[in-house]
Amino acid sequence: MVGLMNASLKGRRALVTGAADGLGKAFALALAHAGADVAVCDISSSVSAVADELKTIGVKSYSAVADVANEKQIKKFVDDAAIALGGLDLVISNAGVVRITVPTKDSWEKTVDDFDAVVGVNYRGVYLTGRAAIPHLIKQGGDLINITTDHIHNCGYPVITHDHTDDCKWKDMQRSPVGGNGFDVYDSSKWAIKGLTNTWARGLAEHGVRVNSFGMGATATPMYLGFVGDKPTPAGTMMPGDVAAVVVELINEGPQGRTGDCIQVWAGHPTFLRPVGLEGLLTARDLGR
Ligand SMILES: NC(=O)c1ccc[n+]([C@@H]2O[C@H](COP(=O)([O-])OP(=O)(O)OC[C@H]3O[C@@H](n4cnc5c(N)ncnc54)[C@H](O)[C@@H]3O)[C@@H](O)[C@H]2O)c1
Repeated sequence: MVGLMNASLKGRRALVTGAADGLGKAFALALAHAGADVAVCDISSSVSAVADELKTIGVKSYSAVADVANEKQIKKFVDDAAIALGGLDLVISNAGVVRITVPTKDSWEKTVDDFDAVVGVNYRGVYLTGRAAIPHLIKQGGDLINITTDHIHNCGYPVITHDHTDDCKWKDMQRSPVGGNGFDVYDSSKWAIKGLTNTWARGLAEHGVRVNSFGMGATATPMYLGFVGDKPTPAGTMMPGDVAAVVVELINEGPQGRTGDCIQVWAGHPTFLRPVGLEGLLTARDLGR
């Protein structure tokens, strides 16, 4: 047994989608090291090895092969996970896919296929996962965290400052809140998640459920390293475990913590939980907090 790093989430019952590898696996491990029991799913059968690894940490785990875009599979996984763990109070909707899409070059067939594939997982999958989990979450309250990307945030706008470091590469500049040409489908699928997050945050507040979106810049996972190819990993690339530690910190804010926020960690920045941003402040105001 590896042992728990700390027990701040002991007794909590967590679920992570897309957890066979990359950030999902890092989230699952970080939650388990903090003491939570964890259910994991993926389209890859190697997710069962992650469940085995979670057990060696000393927590309960449950795994299933399930596609978040398939309404029957994701509903069954969420309900089965709640039975296996005795309920659910932490959900990280992480499964996502990316494709490079270029409006000026793509064939019509590629245009349609990319939309269905990317929106199907990134938007429909997050919608279905959240909807399947909400009946479980509202039983006692908890956290729903939807994974987005740093593409959808204007770095430095207007609450987040760069005062924490002198060598911040974004200092004295504002960053456009898009990933750029090649990401029209991916970025818009992640903007859609922001819409779900904002409305769910308001609707679930009275049930003690916090809903936040969490986006990161370049992180060393199979998805990102696939773009890098044979080149050396760019300096400043974040490690999945460091990003996951920030998610645990967010959960540890507890029931009085932020909700409806759009949280970002950026490659090249120190990886830490930033103060509540504009969306979180507006949601808090609307909720009369
Ligand atoms: N790595 C980065 O730099 C980065 C940056 C911004 C946002 N993200 C987001 O973080 C999340 C995780 O990304 P990652 O880098 O770990 O990706 P990854 O491709 O390395 O891992 C994703 C995992 O999700 C699984 N998956 C894919 N489609 C699925 C489906 N339909 N149902 C269930 N599981 C599925 C894959 O099998 C894989 O195990 C994604 O939502 C991604 O958009 C990643």
